[in-house]
Amino acid sequence: MNKRRFLRTLGGASLSVMFAPKVLDRYARMPYAELAQDEAFWGTIRGKYRLVPDYINLENGYYSMQSQPVLEAFVRHIRGTNYQASRYMRTALVPDKLRVRTRLATLAGCSPEELIITRNTTESLDTVIAGYDWKPGDEAVMAAQDYGAMLDMFKLQARRYGMQNRVVSLPVDPRSDAEIVQLYASAITPRTRLLMVCHVVNITGHVLPIRAICDMAHARGVDVMVDGAHAFAQLDYRIPDLGCDYYGASLHKWLGTPLGAGILYVRREKVAKLWPIFGDEGFEDTDIRKLNHTGTHPPHTDLAIENAIDFHNEIGSARKEARLRHLQQYWTKQVRGTPRIVMNTPSDPKRTCAIANVGIDGMKPADLGRALFEQHRIWTVAIDRPAAKVHGVRVTPHVYTTLAELDTFVRALRTLAA
Ligand SMILES: Cc1ncc(COP(=O)(O)O)c(C=O)c1O
Repeated sequence: MNKRRFLRTLGGASLSVMFAPKVLDRYARMPYAELAQDEAFWGTIRGKYRLVPDYINLENGYYSMQSQPVLEAFVRHIRGTNYQASRYMRTALVPDKLRVRTRLATLAGCSPEELIITRNTTESLDTVIAGYDWKPGDEAVMAAQDYGAMLDMFKLQARRYGMQNRVVSLPVDPRSDAEIVQLYASAITPRTRLLMVCHVVNITGHVLPIRAICDMAHARGVDVMVDGAHAFAQLDYRIPDLGCDYYGASLHKWLGTPLGAGILYVRREKVAKLWPIFGDEGFEDTDIRKLNHTGTHPPHTDLAIENAIDFHNEIGSARKEARLRHLQQYWTKQVRGTPRIVMNTPSDPKRTCAIANVGIDGMKPADLGRALFEQHRIWTVAIDRPAAKVHGVRVTPHVYTTLAELDTFVRALRTLAA
C-alpha cells in the first residue's frame, strides 16, 4: 500500500486524531511485519476499546466486542431508527441496506449482486445447504473439525432426503497443502455434489488451502461452500480469489459489528439453482435477494456494519492479519515442545493466524479452562471434541491484546503443566 493510501486509511475519524502527522508518516513507511511488533501503535488501537480490567480476555473467537466508536454509532442508530420509526423503515431502510451491502461487497472483493447481509454464518451456510434439491444417494463432503451447526444441517438433509455425508478428519499439523487437498479428494465420488470446508477451523485455528481445494473439487464437478466464520476481517483476501461457489461469514466475529450480522456470498452463476428457505416471489430466480427474505429485522445492526468497516479499514486487513499472527506466534513459540503441553494447531505460521488451541496432557479441557480463570484470571474456552480429536482450550487474542497479557498466559500454562 502506498503512503497516500495508507494515510487515507489511517486518517479516519478516530485514528487521525490519535496519531500526530509525523507519527502517521513513520507508520506509513513501516512494513507490515515490523508494524505488527510496534506496541505503541497497537496500544493506541487498544485505547479504542473498553476492556474489563479484572481478567484477561483470550476468548475473542466467539465474537469480538465492538470498538467504542462502533458501539457509539450503533447506539446512535438505535436512537435514530427508533425516532423515525415506521417512516425510517418505509423510506430509508432499503437504500441504507443497499449502501451497507455495497460496502461489504467492496470489502469482500465481490459484486453486490453476489452478496447479501444475513444474521450470521449459520444462517448463510444453512441457506445454501437447504437450498439444494437433494436426491437419495447424493453425497456431500465435510470434515469432523467443521462447525457443529453445519454438520447437523447436513445430517438433517440426510434424514429428510436420503443423501449421504462423507466426513474426513483433518491432521493437526499437515506437511503440505497437497496432503489436505488429497484428503478431501479421497472422499469425493461420482455422487458428490457439494464440499464444505472451513477457511479457518474454529477449534484449532487451522487455515486451510481453500483455492487448491476449490480447484481440485471443481475439476471433479463438485461445488464448494466455504465456512468463513473466522476468516472474514481476520485474514486479508478477496472472496472471488478463493474460487469457491458459496461463502458464509459472521461479521460479529472479526469485523467487530454488533451481534447478529453476517454475509452470504453466492457466485453469480450459482444463484439460480438455490431454493430459498422463505418464499419471495418479488425477485427473479437469478437475484440473490430471493435468499434474503428475513421479515422485520433490527436495522440498527445493519447500519453499524458500515461503522465497523470504517474502523477496520483504518487499521487495514493486512496489518490486522500480521498483528494477529504475531500475537499467536508470540505465545505458541514459547510453549511448543514444553513437556505435557500439547499444541492442537499447525506449527507453520502460514497455516494459522490469531487462533490456537493448547492442552495439557492428563488434564481435561474444562479443568484447564477453569484453572486458567480461577487461578490466573485468564478467560479462554474449553474445546473437548472426541470426534474431531481436539482436546484443549482455544486461545484467541485480538488487536487489543498486549504481549504482557500473553506473558501472563504463558507463565500460567507452564505453572499448570509443571
Ligand atoms: C467455523 C464456524 N462456523 C460457523 C460458526 C457459526 O457462527 P454464528 O454462530 O455466528 O452463526 C462458528 C461460530 O463460532 C464457527 O466458528
